[in-house]
Amino acid sequence: YRRLRVALLGAGAVGSQVAHLLHTHADELADRAGAALELAGIAVRDVDAPRDVELPRELLTTDAETLIVGSDIVIELMGGIEPARAHIQLALNSGADVVTANKALLATHGTEIFDAADQVGASVYYEAAVAGAIPIIRPLRDSLAGDRVNRIMGIVNGTTNYILDRMDGEGAEMAEVLADAQRLGYAEADPTADVEGYDAAQKAAILASLAFHTTVPLDAVHREGITGITKGMMDAARHAGYVIKLLAVCERLSGRADVADGAEAISVRVYPALVPRDHPLASVHGVNNAVFVQAEAAGDLMFYGAGAGGMQTASAVLGDLVSAARRHIAGGAGVGESTRANLPTVDIGKVVTRY
Ligand code: HSE
Repeated sequence: YRRLRVALLGAGAVGSQVAHLLHTHADELADRAGAALELAGIAVRDVDAPRDVELPRELLTTDAETLIVGSDIVIELMGGIEPARAHIQLALNSGADVVTANKALLATHGTEIFDAADQVGASVYYEAAVAGAIPIIRPLRDSLAGDRVNRIMGIVNGTTNYILDRMDGEGAEMAEVLADAQRLGYAEADPTADVEGYDAAQKAAILASLAFHTTVPLDAVHREGITGITKGMMDAARHAGYVIKLLAVCERLSGRADVADGAEAISVRVYPALVPRDHPLASVHGVNNAVFVQAEAAGDLMFYGAGAGGMQTASAVLGDLVSAARRHIAGGAGVGESTRANLPTVDIGKVVTRY
């Protein structure tokens, strides 16, 4: 097989599992990709930091730039805006394809990154950015490209679902279960992103951009988190036959009185909602996510599975890596697959944030 050099940026909960699976599944991955995927290095902030998964010390480096420039495919799993953004730009400019799970970056700088990729004929893959292990980016971008999506309703943050589920099931306190979610590797580095709904809002912006073929800016997403939810509220909801879930809802509003005739409008919002206990979303427990998609021709589709977790999210990253490697082998440099979320094929008149 031809060898492709793979750079890994970040060795947190997901990154360390990606390194581990790249090593243990090397032969299968090579067969599926049609190329030997050689882990050239792992860029980290601190080479001596304690890690759950032992990584070969000779692969660890703090010099991300040198690693990136010598690689064919760069996997960015650092999270946050900088230096992830600069590293991805450098990777694209050096002719590498990029795999990333960085929802914060894509929700805020997606257009810039996809433009940069298009300019150099590179591809950006981001299946792991939304809903962990669940395949949802490709279904929206590719499988449903011939249909018209009208509504997406989902649980897209594993940490808050884990917290709310334990508050509901055990009467647990939020603070104590949040600590467990952090320990299990579900929460963001700063868990405020989870509990205040920022993480879900970033994912909703990405999903809505894909579903409605437009660019939904993050600040157009209405966002409410779960920090105001008390045990008393959970109890009251339960007695009334409901469970409280943090939902992300993306929908077309065409035809409403406050939307001009013939105009398109969408609403994208994240908020704690009362879900009837017999609704399928009510039975999404623990760290799982679920995304309902309603499309004109396809009807109702449901995507369900682990929404966070190192190994689970690593599955989505490795799938993207195989796609990137296949494209690299087939097309060579300079033939990018357009993977952007926001080709402006529909002119959305306005994004309604309040409803
Ligand atoms: N903190 C995120 C969550 C990780 O809990 O869903 C997966 O994106």
